[in-house]
Amino acid sequence: MRWFIFMRLFKKIFGKSLPDLDWIQNQGLLSMKIAQTFALRIDFLPEETCTHLAKLYTKTTPIEPEDFQLLLKQYTDDTWLKSFKSIEDLPIGSASVGQVHRATLKTGEEVVIKLIKKDFKRKFEKDVRSLRRFIKFVIFFYPKLAKVADPVGILEHIESYTLAELDLYNEIKHGKELKQIYLDHKDQFDLDRLKFPHIYEELSNEHVLVSEFIDGPTADELLTNKKMKFDDILEIFHIHGFYIFIIGTFHGDLHPGNLIVKGKDFYFIDTGAISRVGKKIQSGLFEFMEKLSMYDYVGCSHALNHMADHEIDGKKFEKFQANLLILYKDFAGKSVSEESLTKKMMETIKLGVNSGMIFEKGMFPIIKSMMYLDGMVLKGSPQTVLMEEMRRFIIEFKKADAMINL
Ligand SMILES: Nc1ncnc2c1ncn2[C@@H]1O[C@H](COP(=O)(O)OP(=O)(O)O)[C@@H](O)[C@H]1O
Ligand SMILES: [Mg+2]
Repeated sequence: MRWFIFMRLFKKIFGKSLPDLDWIQNQGLLSMKIAQTFALRIDFLPEETCTHLAKLYTKTTPIEPEDFQLLLKQYTDDTWLKSFKSIEDLPIGSASVGQVHRATLKTGEEVVIKLIKKDFKRKFEKDVRSLRRFIKFVIFFYPKLAKVADPVGILEHIESYTLAELDLYNEIKHGKELKQIYLDHKDQFDLDRLKFPHIYEELSNEHVLVSEFIDGPTADELLTNKKMKFDDILEIFHIHGFYIFIIGTFHGDLHPGNLIVKGKDFYFIDTGAISRVGKKIQSGLFEFMEKLSMYDYVGCSHALNHMADHEIDGKKFEKFQANLLILYKDFAGKSVSEESLTKKMMETIKLGVNSGMIFEKGMFPIIKSMMYLDGMVLKGSPQTVLMEEMRRFIIEFKKADAMINL
């Protein structure tokens, strides 16, 4: 990808009309990942643009059935093929790197096969190098960009989770890690509704992953059809919040297309990306959410400062606090449709950075998770005053934190 392609990409994303998704896909994996990242930036893109870009998460163009067969041959061997009674030609899902087909094993078990669509790695790495040079060039002229938007940090995040996603062994490894956390703590925290699909490791490799077929809609489908119950959205926050706030290791890409709902259970799928966050951010963020849920903005100002690697004090802090109080003056009692939580979070962090705080790079995955949650509530239950609903979990999280982290 050359520099003018990046410029065109950004022009399309920020343009007046909705960006052309086919064009974006045709520019390659990095272009798609950047566009997916912008799908979350309702803090500086119009909502329609974000919703449009979000289609890149679940509705990309699959490869032709002939190419699917060819790739399967390339990635597997005869013994592998002999384990299957049938494999469907048309995929049930297709995202940026993989596509997923239903199949039945000789034993009668219903499974899905996930396959990496093509050999993305070399071009992706080359594009990342080229974009990094481009960003450094731009930052040279606009140093402020580096401080506020942290484009290098975001690019690094995209690079590391995409490379992880391209090797399906990571999905197995990280899936196991998340499951182990569940097993270790299920007696200390109510994780009853969380499930993981069985993975057939003996039939899987870097390019192909075979797992148990889960017969249920994704949270995304439920939200689109207005069938997702509000309590279920909150339960996702309850489970995911446990991983983020109490453990600090969490599913790195838990958007609603990566959650299957079957009866009362939530299945974590697509576990290729795992995110980790340092103790300082983890506890600071929890403190922030706790204060925010009580509309205690003075408390919020201290909590945000606690999250920063480099904290501020004295006059600087006082000024920051005064500005934060102004930022939140009409926040209490607002529903998610009246006031986007993500947007508020982004503005809050921006205010912190402009006041002199410095945050570690680990912030972005958390913000991404918050955005997914905010987006789900906005789609499924826009009248909710999310902050007030969150209060019911704070005490439970605190108890778990005291039990597990002391
Ligand atoms: N184990 C499964 N059972 C049923 N459907 C699945 C399963 N795994 C994936 N899918 C379907 O395929 C889609 C894409 O799968 P996913 O693992 O998220 O791949 P990608 O990396 O392409 O996003 C999911 O949104 C879901 O609809
Ligand atoms: Mg997915």
